[in-house]
Amino acid sequence: MSLTVAELNQLFSAHFKATADYHFRAPGRVNLIGEHTDYNDGFVLPCAIDFDTHVLARKNGLNVIRVIAADYNNQLDEISLETGIEHHADYQWANYVRGVVLSLQRQNIALVGCDLAISGNVPQGAGLSSSAALEVSLGLTLTTLAEQPMSLAQIALTGQQAENHFVGCNSGIMDQLISAQGQQGNAVLIDCRSLECKAFAMPQELAVVIINSNVKRGLVGSEYNTRRKQCEAGAEHYGVKALRDLDIDAIGNIFAELDDVTARRVRHVVTENARTLAAAEALANDDITTLSQLMAESHASMRDDFEITVPPIDYLVSLVHSIIGNRGGVRMTGGGFGGCVVALVPHDMVAEVKAQIAANYPEQTGLVADVFVCQPSAGAEIVAQS
Ligand code: GLA
Repeated sequence: MSLTVAELNQLFSAHFKATADYHFRAPGRVNLIGEHTDYNDGFVLPCAIDFDTHVLARKNGLNVIRVIAADYNNQLDEISLETGIEHHADYQWANYVRGVVLSLQRQNIALVGCDLAISGNVPQGAGLSSSAALEVSLGLTLTTLAEQPMSLAQIALTGQQAENHFVGCNSGIMDQLISAQGQQGNAVLIDCRSLECKAFAMPQELAVVIINSNVKRGLVGSEYNTRRKQCEAGAEHYGVKALRDLDIDAIGNIFAELDDVTARRVRHVVTENARTLAAAEALANDDITTLSQLMAESHASMRDDFEITVPPIDYLVSLVHSIIGNRGGVRMTGGGFGGCVVALVPHDMVAEVKAQIAANYPEQTGLVADVFVCQPSAGAEIVAQS
């Protein structure tokens, strides 16, 4: 349960016996298309969403960072800036904080002691990047307080390093980069090799609907890292730096050259990169029919070639598709093995989509889905400073 900003301010004052001088925020994200392409140096097309992590802060004049986590029963952490940083034995949230601190120190950023109160409303464990929102908001907080400003891309890379080297998930750059660089009302095409971002206005006639399947994502870490290794093996076979460097013509004989599983993994990434670029063009042309087709093909490729969907997710996608047809698009979003479906739904069909999910999903799966209508939002920012 997250707090309002006023409640978080009260908590800060009550706990640290002083008022906060700064307020920072960073959002979660939903990816419209381009899945498992980021760590292949490819393209993704996410938008930041209006669910975010908030950090209130003040310098404390000490050599320690003190943190209170409002969403975790006010659990506390203290990180000394004078000694080495170890993993927290009990609190996973604290490891994101510690990971960001360590990653900044490794870049020779001289941090200052500060007090932080954190709360957010990005659904956790749903594949909407609550961890990236935390990492990016902390990166912005700590570099601002230290008066060592960093580019948003560098803050995103710092968050990714915390995730890869401290938390232990070998994820790509998409989640942190869109949390840092989101643009209100826009999806952002990211070239994950150059980190170049290009905004594409979201169609006015479509609502961004996120459906949380509430499937528990058990295998996600190990399966994610396995997929990544399979992609790297594919790139090695073709003698390229990353699968981004292959196009559809280069993989004509793929099933003769590679084992069946690796071939399908490579085919997903190569075709998904092409679909992502085509989807950005479809957005630019307000071509919803093409966007719908590309999202459907992306889902089929994740299901059949990359094998990261699960039956309740496939069910939700086909149910929503049966309602909206080519007037909108629907596919699984995020790392896979549960998590969320993203649907671009004409405004006048949102109520019907919600009703059909409520009427059919529990009976089919024994689960209840959460449905959110989101606004494409701005990336990380300093909200207030006194
Ligand atoms: C997770 C990772 C991202 C990306 C997606 C799949 O969200 O954190 O880097 O690889 O999965 O597209």
